[in-house]
Amino acid sequence: MVREWDPRTASSAEIASLLDTLNAVLAADLPQDPPWRENSMREYLAEVMPGERRISWVAQTEPAADGSPGAILGHVHVLLLGDIGVLEVLVHPSARRTGLGRDLVLTAARRVYQEGFQSIGVEVVGDTPAVAFYESLGFSKEYVETRSVLDLSGVDWAELAEMATGIGAGYHLQFHPGGPPDELIEAYARAKAEVRDVEDGELRPSSYDPERLRDSLDCLHRRGMKPYIVLALHEQTGEVAGLTEVVVPVQHPTRADQYDTIVVQDHRGYGIDRAIKARMLMELRSAEAKLTEVQTWNAQANESMLKVNAELGYRPDREWCEYSIDVAELVHRLDAGR
Ligand SMILES: CC(C)(COP(=O)(O)OP(=O)(O)OC[C@H]1O[C@@H](n2cnc3c(N)ncnc32)[C@H](O)[C@@H]1OP(=O)(O)O)[C@@H](O)C(=O)NCCC(=O)NCCS
Repeated sequence: MVREWDPRTASSAEIASLLDTLNAVLAADLPQDPPWRENSMREYLAEVMPGERRISWVAQTEPAADGSPGAILGHVHVLLLGDIGVLEVLVHPSARRTGLGRDLVLTAARRVYQEGFQSIGVEVVGDTPAVAFYESLGFSKEYVETRSVLDLSGVDWAELAEMATGIGAGYHLQFHPGGPPDELIEAYARAKAEVRDVEDGELRPSSYDPERLRDSLDCLHRRGMKPYIVLALHEQTGEVAGLTEVVVPVQHPTRADQYDTIVVQDHRGYGIDRAIKARMLMELRSAEAKLTEVQTWNAQANESMLKVNAELGYRPDREWCEYSIDVAELVHRLDAGR
């Protein structure tokens, strides 16, 4: 029932069926999240960064009598990067608790093991069946973040405009839809390299050198995800003192994703964090007419970032956890249980 599946060559009917399952999962587990649209879904599933590989499998019902393909009720893919395989599993709510999720994980885990990778990591959303599922498979919790959501209809735009200008002398802000301009890529990558702080969970690695950064932006574009950037430039040195990145995915254009926000150590204490985020929201308001919400993920220990987000109007929504397990241990455990 489970077979390897390549989104690049899959039929449009299969892509649509997988999207239906994803939306059924969201409706069951995260009912406040917007459903996904079909736009660039194939590219979203297929495109990866250079040097990374994504391998996918589906569980599909039998073809119908007229030969049309069966429904995709389960899906797993694993993204191979560094020495880790990052897993994502979906089982349609109507097909749960029959062992399908476990079968999908075993299929992917065997491949990760054969490919010589050490461990498997997965993002697990708090308060959903996935927590009990991964714990039953022996995964352990490595890292917890809080997802917060900002409802743009509740924003006081006049207050936000003040926040956007409340920045120390000697800095100015720039807005760049699409990504940083070429002449700033090096300074931008330096700012990201300096601050590898607790904000970045292991499963969402940032890009720290200019080449990797270009590749990462290119990959986002190919997957239908439009990046927006606000920078704080230090006028005296031309250095990037702070940056904030938001991505608007064409698959759910009403809810944007906040990526990194960084203020370089020497430039902290000048109101840059609050100003760049406020400016970003103002720019998004005019650039993205469909946008109604922005979501962000923060380490629970990152009190200053959480404070700024609360001032902007973000409300904590859910725990978002990273779990991991040694691949050999997982394969042996699942094989032994069969
Ligand atoms: C997590 C998920 C993959 C589990 O799929 P599944 O096919 O129902 O899982 P299985 O039937 O293989 O369950 C294996 C074991 O996990 C545990 N488990 C799974 N769901 C559980 C639940 N709701 N409550 C308690 N334990 C659960 C049980 O120990 C179960 O064994 P048992 O049925 O013999 O008791 C499925 O719920 C899913 O797709 N969730 C969404 C995941 C996701 O990534 N969402 C992202 C957006 S929310």
